[in-house]
Amino acid sequence: MAKLWIALLLLCIGGFSQVIAATDDEAAFHQQLNTMNVKPYHHSLESTGRNTSCQLCHGSSTPVAAPNDKSCLSCHGSRDQIAELTQPNPHDKNAEPNPHDSMHYGKDVPCTACHNEHKPSVIYCNNCHLFKYPDMKP
Ligand code: HEC
Ligand code: HEC
Ligand code: HEC
Ligand code: HEC
Repeated sequence: MAKLWIALLLLCIGGFSQVIAATDDEAAFHQQLNTMNVKPYHHSLESTGRNTSCQLCHGSSTPVAAPNDKSCLSCHGSRDQIAELTQPNPHDKNAEPNPHDSMHYGKDVPCTACHNEHKPSVIYCNNCHLFKYPDMKP
């Protein structure tokens, strides 16, 4: 009988510490969300209020992962329109290739392979190439 009580007691203690750990995690999660900032070029999105601004890209005010391309395209237009914006000048022999329409992947690279929001953006192509794209906003 004594053994059973000890077992029950241990179960309770275990349960409580799990609850405490969960609220700690949740607090840390919300604290992390509060420190996430958007790029200067997206500051106008914050005029909708902080939670709404997260939703504009993530579809949630408590995001856990990168958003889907659909949210980018809902404001920026179609993949064709994006590719059109960065068409290289055909008369410039040194022009770098269109990042939005490449010979390997066409227009299908996910936006967030290059454009990050809460950390510096990267040029996915440079896993293999050495492009510069001086006009890319960091
Ligand atoms: C303009 C679009 C945009 C807005 C607005 C935006 N995010 Fe993001 N978010 C991204 C992109 C792109 C990524 C993936 C890469 C990165 O971390 O920048 C991401 C990733 C994240 C992640 C996952 C981080 C990780 O390490 O994978 C969290 C959490 C997050 N965002 C929270 C937020 C919060 C909170 C807000 C509102 C204050 C917000 N985001 C607003 C685009 C956006
Ligand atoms: C709610 C609308 C909205 C959403 C969603 C959104 N953007 Fe934007 N974005 C804007 C506005 C407004 C600007 C500033 C005006 C402009 O340059 O078009 C901008 C600017 C940019 C720029 C800088 C353009 C330049 O002039 O160099 C990039 C890059 C960009 N957005 C990428 C993204 C990506 C990638 C996503 C998805 C993760 C995204 N945006 C989601 C509205 C949005
Ligand atoms: C392979 C990397 C890469 C991917 C994927 C990518 N971009 Fe870009 N993006 C760039 C680079 C590099 C530039 C700057 C190019 C320049 O201006 O010459 C740019 C510029 C832009 C601009 C500014 C164009 C202008 O001149 O006004 C917008 C808006 C943009 N990207 C949106 C998007 C969206 C939306 C997606 C997803 C459909 C996307 N990008 C996917 C690399 C990428
Ligand atoms: C996994 C490695 C890899 C990635 C990532 C990659 N490339 Fe390439 N790319 C290559 C190789 C290898 C060649 C040469 C072989 C060939 O012509 O197919 C090449 C050739 C090219 C060429 C032909 C001209 C030249 O420079 O040789 C262009 C243009 C190009 N890539 C653009 C891009 C763009 C734009 C991206 C990003 C959207 C990209 N690549 C991403 C490996 C890569």
